[in-house]
Amino acid sequence: MQSQQTETKTKEHIDFLPINGTDYVEFYVGNAKQSAHFYRSAFGMKLVAYSGPETGQRDRASYVLQQDKIRFVLTTPMQPDHPISEHIKHHGDGVRDIALWVDDAESAYEETTKRGGKGVVEPTVTKDEFGEVKRSAITTYGDTIHSFVERKEYDGVFMPGFRPIESSDLVCRPVGLKFIDHMVGNVGWGQMNTWVKFYEDVMGFRMFKHFDDKDISTEYSALMSKVVANGNDRIKFPINEPAKGKRKSQIEEYIEFYQGPGVQHIAMATDNIIDTVGKLTDQGVEFLRVPTTYYEDLAGRVGKIDEPIDELAKLGILVDRDDEGYMLQIFTKPIEDRPTLFFEISQRKGSRSFGKGNFKALFEAIEMEQELRGNL
Ligand code: FE2
Repeated sequence: MQSQQTETKTKEHIDFLPINGTDYVEFYVGNAKQSAHFYRSAFGMKLVAYSGPETGQRDRASYVLQQDKIRFVLTTPMQPDHPISEHIKHHGDGVRDIALWVDDAESAYEETTKRGGKGVVEPTVTKDEFGEVKRSAITTYGDTIHSFVERKEYDGVFMPGFRPIESSDLVCRPVGLKFIDHMVGNVGWGQMNTWVKFYEDVMGFRMFKHFDDKDISTEYSALMSKVVANGNDRIKFPINEPAKGKRKSQIEEYIEFYQGPGVQHIAMATDNIIDTVGKLTDQGVEFLRVPTTYYEDLAGRVGKIDEPIDELAKLGILVDRDDEGYMLQIFTKPIEDRPTLFFEISQRKGSRSFGKGNFKALFEAIEMEQELRGNL
């Protein structure tokens, strides 16, 4: 008990970057209006705010979508020589900004930049009749950034410059997605430890202790991964790098098509994965399927679980158990034409792991898809 208290105190003491949670994830996309429709109709997200020429933002249009604590911002540029156009030219549609909700955007900027973080937006205040938001940002892997968003007492719909937007509920059927569980970055050969160190040194994260800290490297997976988490574990970032395997690493394929490091997947949590995945499937979201043999010996592998295995098999949901409990998960296919960003839907029942036991089955499914794309 004594040592636990000391450990907690030390942890608080060294948390120079307190984070309340994910604030939003901003995607740069070729056509934000149409992407917004996809996230509404397929993922059941509600369109809540807009910024664009009509609101005085002449160089871009942004749509804010929300489901429970998950908030996406979809942004598209208006001109070809805009930096956002360059981003889209290189990467296709993808994540630009993993924005973190903090109480002090100024201190977040100072503390991280003095530890070697590269600033991209100095602390800036924007105001409207609903209050003020202070935002700063630093760069991370590839062309990805982390904004620090301080929204003390701001009670507008999203941020100054955005206006609420009326959208039909008939288009979006919420599917029970609650919050972002983790977001995974793919980095280049030999770069995993460099970026783990970046999160440790610059942002005060540490290796997530409930993750097996041995690198994952099998002939199937051909990737290595380590997970870093912030002080209160609300933010978890697994970092992957390619590894030599029998066949071309899925991480290598990603990097080829994204033209560099970037966000590989966003895991969104539900507390009823059967219901959520059933609805998503009905709404046209495509999931990776593992061979049906996966379910034949599932009970033997994971023991007793609350969910009927035939229901899981019908939807293609995977299960993994560790010493704390189990977790259920499923992965979508890439959500754009380049084989880059995809989503994970997950439900935790005690387990804090990332589904390591499913890697083999999953990677075989991914390899089948890579083969179809001619990228093996
Ligand atoms: Fe994941």
